[in-house]
Amino acid sequence: MGETYLGELEPAMVVPLLARASEKFSSYHYFPQIGSTNDAAKELARGSAGEIAVVVADCQTQGRGRSGRRWISEPGRGLWVSLLIRPNLSHWQAGVLSLGAAVAVAKALRLHCGQGQVALKWPNDVVAYQRKLAGILVEGGGATQVNWAVVGIGINTGRFPELKETIGRQVTSVEEIAGKPVSRAELLADLVAAFADVYALIKAAPTQVLTEFSSQCETMGQQIMWREVHGAEEITNRGLAVGLDDTGALLVQTVGDQRIRPLRASEVALVRPERD
Ligand code: BTN
Repeated sequence: MGETYLGELEPAMVVPLLARASEKFSSYHYFPQIGSTNDAAKELARGSAGEIAVVVADCQTQGRGRSGRRWISEPGRGLWVSLLIRPNLSHWQAGVLSLGAAVAVAKALRLHCGQGQVALKWPNDVVAYQRKLAGILVEGGGATQVNWAVVGIGINTGRFPELKETIGRQVTSVEEIAGKPVSRAELLADLVAAFADVYALIKAAPTQVLTEFSSQCETMGQQIMWREVHGAEEITNRGLAVGLDDTGALLVQTVGDQRIRPLRASEVALVRPERD
């Protein structure tokens, strides 16, 4: 594991970097340990916190991922961050938000991992050499519009050989790819800068964000399999990933009837290439 030094994520170190990263940054909330930064950001959403409020923890005890999975968030091993925004997006634009967040994470990671290696997997994994570097969990609320959203981002920064034994060899980290330890404070500032740009684009020209995502997404053009839950039944399906619709749903041509249908991120789990 790379050396991390105490205080790396403390406000005194981080706030000046975030203020330089984006004029949209509004506040920074750091916890050495917390249940989940997404929950802390939701709490802020109930109060008067502005956009882009940044919640970071060195360690999460209840970190969560997509499809109700646990997200292991050990101290010093990653950047566990949630960004609060108040977007007033329609529900279809909210799908774009989660893909846009992945574009922003990938952009920040390229500054630390090298340009060539970092790619996207639909719906919102960031990978390098087919191994997961980062994941995104967007949660939001609002009746007719999404008027607040929490963009939860987990980036593996340090090495964690014991984790590989538990969840397999499909994970990697910035340190592993870059071959040297990463400054989580600098990575966070790059992430906030990239996210602020993408967020502005989501509001102004969401289709550009989708094009950007597609061009970096290695799921496109692949034969994939995925799981769908229908009541108590879980079905595995197969098809060819052919594109995205305007909401960010993945268009697949299903094996069998060759029909093109949209897969929504909230309805499917474990999307992966068929060859795996
Ligand atoms: C996934 O790939 O399944 C999404 C993982 C999202 C993890 C991050 S870590 C910060 C934030 N807090 C959480 O509890 N989850 C997200």
